[in-house]
Amino acid sequence: MDIDRLTAKEKLRLICGKDFWHTEDFGGKLPQLTVADGPVGLRVVKARAADGTETAYPATAYPSVQLLANTWDRDCAKKMGAALADDCLERDVDILLAPGVNVKRTPLCGRNFEYFSEDPLLAGEMAKAYIAGLQEGGAGACLKHFCCNNLEYDRLHQSSDVDERTLREIYYLPFEIACEAKPVSVMCSYNRINGTYGAEYKKGFLVLREEFGFDGAVFSDWSAVRDRAASARAGLDLEMPFCEENYQKLCKDFEEGSISEEEIDACAERVLALISRCKTMRQGKKPRRTEAERRRIAQEIAAEGMVLLKNDGTLPLAAGARLAVAGCYAQPSDMGMLRGAGAAAVNREGETFSVPAALKKRGYAVMFEPAFSYDGVDSFHQDARRAAGLASESDVSVLCVGLGEKFERESADRETLRLPRVQERAILASAAAAPTVVVVFAGAAVDMSAWADKVSAILFAGYPGAGGDEALASLLAGEKNPCGRLSESFPLSLADCPASREDGVSAGVTRYAEGLDVGYRYYITHHVPVLFAFGFGLSYSSFAYRDLTAEVGREGITLSFDVCNTSERAGKEVVQVYVRECTPVVYRPARELKAFEKVFAEGGGRQKVSFTLGRRAFAHWSAAEDAWCVSDGVYEILVGASSEDIRLTLKVRAERGTFSLLPLQDGAECDRIVS
Ligand code: GLC
Repeated sequence: MDIDRLTAKEKLRLICGKDFWHTEDFGGKLPQLTVADGPVGLRVVKARAADGTETAYPATAYPSVQLLANTWDRDCAKKMGAALADDCLERDVDILLAPGVNVKRTPLCGRNFEYFSEDPLLAGEMAKAYIAGLQEGGAGACLKHFCCNNLEYDRLHQSSDVDERTLREIYYLPFEIACEAKPVSVMCSYNRINGTYGAEYKKGFLVLREEFGFDGAVFSDWSAVRDRAASARAGLDLEMPFCEENYQKLCKDFEEGSISEEEIDACAERVLALISRCKTMRQGKKPRRTEAERRRIAQEIAAEGMVLLKNDGTLPLAAGARLAVAGCYAQPSDMGMLRGAGAAAVNREGETFSVPAALKKRGYAVMFEPAFSYDGVDSFHQDARRAAGLASESDVSVLCVGLGEKFERESADRETLRLPRVQERAILASAAAAPTVVVVFAGAAVDMSAWADKVSAILFAGYPGAGGDEALASLLAGEKNPCGRLSESFPLSLADCPASREDGVSAGVTRYAEGLDVGYRYYITHHVPVLFAFGFGLSYSSFAYRDLTAEVGREGITLSFDVCNTSERAGKEVVQVYVRECTPVVYRPARELKAFEKVFAEGGGRQKVSFTLGRRAFAHWSAAEDAWCVSDGVYEILVGASSEDIRLTLKVRAERGTFSLLPLQDGAECDRIVS
């Protein structure tokens, strides 16, 4: 569609959306786009009540984005995107309002279950794969929320006060990486960034377009626009949903000349291009997977992403063991207990979830007691004492605890990192009675310091989607080998997290005073111990890293090493590569993730892994040069099984843009240098 075929009035209308979920089509003159949430399942609204509550059609529920990130597996992300594309095709949805890539600056953020990680590289890479799967499947992506929407507190108004270098190295970076997958759209954030509303963030939109190669349309978040002319001038192409008042004001501004036709055309052309691109993307595409296959994908991803945090050998459960299963999360009365609330909620009507049933299917003798309900102990229906009693009669107690949409939700942050007191009491009572395995269903970090040392094993189950009970039981029973790794640090206490300190918050402003010190970047640099580290996770196998070699080539430094499975059991390991500048001339965290890969190795087998680190892997954003710079000096490359568990190291020197490998020092763990 050529823009010249639209009148000025039509162009003004086009950039203001049609209603809650559609673009304007002028009675069929244009094709119409349908958009819908959300990142972990399609939320197509069936009905919207007068008070705004929406009823959505039931849909396949996929694991929470945080659980997906815990797989550290780009293939899982791509598969989830592809399965969601099938859901979109079936429901005639052109654009899925996902994925969200906001960095987890504070573990309290109410929407952390919807986001990938505290680390921008992991978030960006997983989002990039998700977008590729979704768009190759025929549905457009909407990368969100640009940017610095890292808490829900006062999200419509508060200003995230962030310096340029922190923006570049932390908060922009997931968008920069994910834009390599060419999302058809980006959604702005509600908040201000350094005083400017996300809907009017011209400087950010220019970075997206001129530096990150973003060639799609910028959407507003829903009702994030306050002044349509100002947002259009900034480069926000489509206001959603339609707002009569904003539209009338835009028409008046246009008539009065405070916004030119060229400025309107710039937005209208990008909306027309979006319509054309999405219709072309869908052309001829049909769902490639049955619903059962999509549910299978959800189950597989959950099994890949659940993280074994502690295990004294109680897991895998011995065949035929007598199990006391307790906790309402084992058999939730409301599927809202296994998800966060808000735009990402999926209608899971008709879905069943029962950990006792899944374990019984595997030959275990199971006694079940809810022990507590979602909001406390309802003594007509639960008996905490009975739970402890069953535990004392069992070989192993499996206690299912967690959070859910009462605690994790859009538009509000969490009050605490701890579990409800009633759950902690049930854990301690169970641990006193029998070897106890705690399964945690949550979408973000949980402070387990009150009980972690009292229990035999801890499995972080995230918010699994369809088939999550089967995924969990397969890991507990040892059919599958846990291979998830934490995509965010679990601090020992909220007070240890720099972003949780309120010294940066005045009315309406959240000062990101911690700068680059987000997550493990802070804890490792400042030697603050954590309960469980970024990148950590146990397996039923064990791995060693050997035979590191390195060479300098045109593309950068290529590392190669072997991951050796030193156990008899086949398993997967997530190898992580971090970089540290040894004598920086600007502040640099002691460790920054620069590459990762999930690898499989048979029992007793080994798998060669190679990474090439280019210039950017050593660079920092120079506020002096307004560019990425690599300072001369020595850098350490750290290869590890987590951010704290470093197995191999190597040092390189950068000198005027040229890299050289440092000779081996005594005891260096690098076996051979091939320069
Ligand atoms: C919400 C969310 C956004 C969602 C949109 C549509 O307020 O911030 O993530 O996609 O509105 O529901």
